[in-house]
Amino acid sequence: MPDVILVTGGTGLIGQAIKHVIETEPAGSRFGKKEGETWVFASSSEGDLRDPEQTKKLFEKYKPTHVIHLAALVGGLFKNMKYKLTFLRDNTLINDNVLHTAYLTHTKKVISCLSTCVFPDKVAYPLDENKIHLGLPHESNFGYAHAKRMVDVANHAYKEEFGCNFTSAIPTNVFGPHDNFDLEDAHVIPALIHKCFLSQKNATPFVVAGTGKPLRQFIYSRDLAKLFIWQLREYDDVEPVILSVGEDEEVSIKQVADAIVKALKFNGEYTFDTSKADGQFRKPASNKKLLDLIGEFEFTPFEQALDETVQWFLKNYDTARTGKIKQ
Ligand SMILES: NC(=O)c1ccc[n+]([C@@H]2O[C@H](COP(=O)([O-])OP(=O)(O)OC[C@H]3O[C@@H](n4cnc5c(N)ncnc54)[C@H](OP(=O)(O)O)[C@@H]3O)[C@@H](O)[C@H]2O)c1
Repeated sequence: MPDVILVTGGTGLIGQAIKHVIETEPAGSRFGKKEGETWVFASSSEGDLRDPEQTKKLFEKYKPTHVIHLAALVGGLFKNMKYKLTFLRDNTLINDNVLHTAYLTHTKKVISCLSTCVFPDKVAYPLDENKIHLGLPHESNFGYAHAKRMVDVANHAYKEEFGCNFTSAIPTNVFGPHDNFDLEDAHVIPALIHKCFLSQKNATPFVVAGTGKPLRQFIYSRDLAKLFIWQLREYDDVEPVILSVGEDEEVSIKQVADAIVKALKFNGEYTFDTSKADGQFRKPASNKKLLDLIGEFEFTPFEQALDETVQWFLKNYDTARTGKIKQ
């Protein structure tokens, strides 16, 4: 039976990156499309995965042999704090429907996408795959984090009771083409790109909140896409894998803002509003398990990845997710 790989959440940042890699890497190569494979990138309009019937219909339509499960209700800090039950419930329903339908239809393998938010708030750094359940997640997103953590619990239970090959991936901060650039609800990189773009357009200062000193591990969506494809083909264990650049490749918010200024050729006033809170200084996560397993892997240099993202944003501004504000 030829392989059919269903990517749930296929229209989002990570889903579109996997589509790009599958379509552009040489056919038959480590990350390219293999002969006979069919890849399906599903949007929520094809089936609302909170609903068991619609989930069943999606599986009946495509008969996937493998699933990369990315679909989730996602959002920034404000949305997570305001809608804790919705984040808990929607994500619990989506994950339960996908995993249970995959089990009932004998899907050979499912990789679900977790997030570093699942880790305990109070934990010894660096984060690694063994620390997920060692304490409560941060209070600000406990609905989302608990729903995601339960995927790891379910994966183990499906394996122990039914022998299913279900596993999970834990990416750090992702950015790239097709990101959400809505200033109300975007992650730091797309938000700063959009802000700087508007400063340039309206000849206003580009003001970055905080000191610019906090450090983060950012992974380019197209690199992450290759790691998902690797995990799909070459990793058959229930335990999650952190998919990230190394701890030594942390980038400061100032480096991010500098790279955006450079990519947009912004030459207006550029400052840091140090009266605004910085958030946690570092949250390093170890990619040792990944590197030990995958062997050779070349991450795209940060500035190049950022420049590609900015160029994509400029080219697709009219259709990109920018929210209501098109000033
Ligand atoms: N972005 C990050 O920095 C990051 C970091 C760690 C982990 N993750 C995880 O990575 C996964 C993908 O994130 P992303 O950044 O690519 O998100 P995204 O760009 O916002 O995409 C979310 C996707 O989920 C789909 N979706 C949402 N609700 C759905 C529903 N009820 N039924 C079916 N599909 C639904 C959306 O479909 P439509 O657009 O068609 O509605 C969209 O394709 C998520 O599980 C997220 O938790 C993201």
